[in-house]
Amino acid sequence: MSFNPLEEKGISLEKQLRSWHDIVKRPFNKYDIDCYSRTRQILMNGIEVEAWNFKHNFARTCPDQDVQNIIALSRRIEDMQQTTVNWLTPACQTVLETTLGYEQVAVDLTAWLAQNEPDDYVKETFNFGLLEDFDHLYRYSQWAYMVDGIDPDDILQGMTDVVLSRPTQNHHNDNGLRLRRHYDRETASPQTKVNIYTLVSGEQQTHNFYAEHGMMYANDDLRRTFGEICDVEEEHVTMYESLIDPNETPFEKLLLHEFTEVCTYYNCYKDEEDDKLKQIWEEFLAFELGHLQIAADLLKKHEDRDPEEIIGNKIVLPCHFETQKEYVTNVLENEIDKRLDGEEDMGYTTIDNLPDDWASYDVQEIVNAEGSPTEQTIQLIKTSINTDIVIADNKLRKKEPALLEKGLEEKAQAPNTVTVEDYEEMVQVKPMEF
Ligand SMILES: [Fe+2]
Ligand SMILES: [Fe+2]
Ligand SMILES: [Fe+2]
Ligand SMILES: [Fe+2]
Repeated sequence: MSFNPLEEKGISLEKQLRSWHDIVKRPFNKYDIDCYSRTRQILMNGIEVEAWNFKHNFARTCPDQDVQNIIALSRRIEDMQQTTVNWLTPACQTVLETTLGYEQVAVDLTAWLAQNEPDDYVKETFNFGLLEDFDHLYRYSQWAYMVDGIDPDDILQGMTDVVLSRPTQNHHNDNGLRLRRHYDRETASPQTKVNIYTLVSGEQQTHNFYAEHGMMYANDDLRRTFGEICDVEEEHVTMYESLIDPNETPFEKLLLHEFTEVCTYYNCYKDEEDDKLKQIWEEFLAFELGHLQIAADLLKKHEDRDPEEIIGNKIVLPCHFETQKEYVTNVLENEIDKRLDGEEDMGYTTIDNLPDDWASYDVQEIVNAEGSPTEQTIQLIKTSINTDIVIADNKLRKKEPALLEKGLEEKAQAPNTVTVEDYEEMVQVKPMEF
């Protein structure tokens, strides 16, 4: 690939202001849109929110007026881009439908990143988080059926499985344990940096979406489910952002943010088959190339550093979407019992090796004291149709009891835990057909 982002001119910042009619476009049709066009739209909203938010934090600690000025202008453009992208969501797409889209992003994006991650520890951390979002997708899918009355595949379109994973009630950890080892800014590859910046943006927006929308349903069990999973997304933001070297300077971080935007829009443009969306990705790629030039110039001027040493001279592809069923099943079967280890240099361990005083047990005992909402979800669907909603081949569905046996901690269980025996009964029932 001969695309060197530092040499492409793009559209200059002064030419990026648009009219309201251009900013607020017609939404897509939720019945026609390809599921991976929707995942791109969801992810790019998160990328823009992070770009905007970062620039506000940057400005709050920056005494230089010239820098303030230019950051204020490009930040306004980021905000307008965010409106364009997020408001492609049609008003008739329900909160739960959008939620399934968010978790489809999390599963298929994280799987892609893990397979394209040169750093083994970062890859292991991606795989660890992957199984948690995969379980969220399973829990929310039950609600999409129970409350919205839809087939989860209306959104997922057969690309992503829906099946039990590491149970959400076990995702609640001691905050210290969630913190991981950061990469070294001097030696980490641009790919690693962009992979993490992309995923942090996606997870942060997932958190924000649940935080802002979970209360839009009246059902208490569903509200609590959103509350429980929202908190896990907060843990995910904590975990993934802790992989970033905190010694990066603000100008270096600015450059990495713009580079991440360039790479994600480039990847979206390359993959997109919807004409209207493709046009937006193309235009915004050109905007981001303009932003990147500015960030590169600021780095040269204020730190006398060569931007190429930080981001290299090649584009990276941080958000290609395709079905990841095989990869995810493999991680699921092998790593469902993995847990965060505080002893060994922020590593990982398995349930069998957890000490009795493992710090996360204390958290789980408190938050799950009156029952875990995501367990209640399965209790409810079982009462309703005698089984759970699984969208996977029958072989994988039949493995649910064994997966739970391996993946559920014995200690600190919520009082309403759905047991291995319950799953043995559920998998005997004919699967729900839509
Ligand atoms: Fe942007
Ligand atoms: Fe999630
Ligand atoms: Fe997540
Ligand atoms: Fe930007």
